[in-house]
Amino acid sequence: MPTVHVFDHPLIRHKLTILRDKRTGHKEFREITEELAALMAYEATRSHPVREIEVETPLAKTTGWSIAGQELAVIPILRAGLVMETAITRLIPTARVGHIGMYRDHDTLQPVSYFVKLPADIAEREAMILDPMLATGGSTVEAINTLKAHGCHNIKVMAIISAPEGIKKVQEAHPDVEIYTAEVDSHLNDKGYIVPGLGDAGDRLFGTK
Ligand code: PRP
Ligand code: URA
Repeated sequence: MPTVHVFDHPLIRHKLTILRDKRTGHKEFREITEELAALMAYEATRSHPVREIEVETPLAKTTGWSIAGQELAVIPILRAGLVMETAITRLIPTARVGHIGMYRDHDTLQPVSYFVKLPADIAEREAMILDPMLATGGSTVEAINTLKAHGCHNIKVMAIISAPEGIKKVQEAHPDVEIYTAEVDSHLNDKGYIVPGLGDAGDRLFGTK
């Protein structure tokens, strides 16, 4: 699977285990999700181009580096992606934010879109879709469809936990899109939940169940 990057950094593995734990409460769950998103962004942007710039310290002029190339847009899928967005825009404050609101129908597991608001220049930006869970892949494929319909063709996906079924669906629909994930789990259960997974990310983040 050449377009899937699975992070094996010890800090990421450690924090993911805390997220999985059913005893982890909402406050800690949100904090760890933010920390994981920042660590994953650090790894996912490792190959981002930089350009040399001159900088003057209080003592002397020297050479420094500035992030170059295409500007970034982060696209959280509501609701659960919002917490990842908070972390990444803290790290990359120049990133623009586009929101895609979507929920899975409980019976059909099909994504239902209810909101789209993207940066006006999204077609010129690199877009990073943020969602903690890539389960059947329906929501992510629909989000990519939406971005492409707006002219954006440089797209990455960041998901904390992925199911093999979801990865396959995204790869078949959009082989040009790279996926960054902390772990690929075993399978989906008959309700479309990732096993072992972490449960319902939105409910655990926002305390809605
Ligand atoms: C969850 C999750 C993803 C989606 C993944 O959201 O945050 O967006 O399910 O499932 P899929 O890969 O099978 O499409 P949910 O629909 O529960 O909405 P919520 O974030 O508002 O709770
Ligand atoms: N959405 C979640 O929040 N968790 C899953 O396991 C699957 C979809």
